[in-house]
Amino acid sequence: MTDASAVRSALGEPYYETDGILLYQGDCIDLLAALPDESIDLTVTSPPYNIGKEYERPLALEDYLEWCGKWMAEVYSVTRTTGAFWLNLGYVPVEGRGKAVPLPYLLWNASPFFFLQEVVWHYGAGVSARRSLSPRNEKFLWYVKDPSNYTFNLDAIRDPNVKYPNQKKNGKLKCNPLGKNPTDVWSIPKVTSGRNRSSTERTPHPAQFPEAVIERVVKGSSNPGDLILDPFVGSGTLTLVAHRLDRLAVGFDVRSDYLDIAVSRIEQSQSAGTKLSLELF
Ligand SMILES: C[S@@+](CC[C@H](N)C(=O)[O-])C[C@H]1O[C@@H](n2cnc3c(N)ncnc32)[C@H](O)[C@@H]1O
Repeated sequence: MTDASAVRSALGEPYYETDGILLYQGDCIDLLAALPDESIDLTVTSPPYNIGKEYERPLALEDYLEWCGKWMAEVYSVTRTTGAFWLNLGYVPVEGRGKAVPLPYLLWNASPFFFLQEVVWHYGAGVSARRSLSPRNEKFLWYVKDPSNYTFNLDAIRDPNVKYPNQKKNGKLKCNPLGKNPTDVWSIPKVTSGRNRSSTERTPHPAQFPEAVIERVVKGSSNPGDLILDPFVGSGTLTLVAHRLDRLAVGFDVRSDYLDIAVSRIEQSQSAGTKLSLELF
């Protein structure tokens, strides 16, 4: 097991540290390269999509894809042999060929990981289109290093709300009382903004993960005490959820204003005493 002190001795003084959670400001490729090999149990992340958000400088598509290959190769090196990588990706325009091409079509095999499964995240609200269908999903790609030996805690993520007909026989439940396998389509609302429709968990970060999605990934693909990582941590959703669920976590971001949001979310959660008390499923 890698503890916070091993990360600190590899990366130096963090931007912020509390209770096994470390945040570093800097470029993720440099920070990943400094982490010890095979030290991370789980990486969950959403990189910039190269679509001109306030936190990115768009590159030519080829250069963007090459950059993704570089940081993903570093994620592979730092992942334990039993570890996993969950990658959230959206869509990009491809000049002359496609309006909104799913990034998984361009990146699914851009790292040495073994591709285990695609999860469709159906997120509810979104922009409405006029000349095509209104987009309502993004994907999570689930990778492992070794397809014969990886963490999967199905009971921790069973969904009691998934109903099937004829579940009872002679008055007894035929299915697992914890619920059903949550399947590869997850209907979990995105973090919304705007008057009267802003999510309670919303921060000023423009691309925040919903805590419920990340909680399902962390519970399913890691165990308490594991070391988990988000190299593009933004508002710190992964580190917040890790803290509540008793995992150790490391987050990187180039921007200190985003890391400050992460710090304040973790500190609010600490003062509210929500560690290990979130039961969303
Ligand atoms: C899609 S957002 C991630 C949001 C995050 N999932 C959350 O819940 O808030 C991508 C983040 O990557 C950061 N970023 C962009 N380039 C980076 C780099 N080279 N190294 C580290 N972070 C970077 C941005 O500042 C931004 O916060």
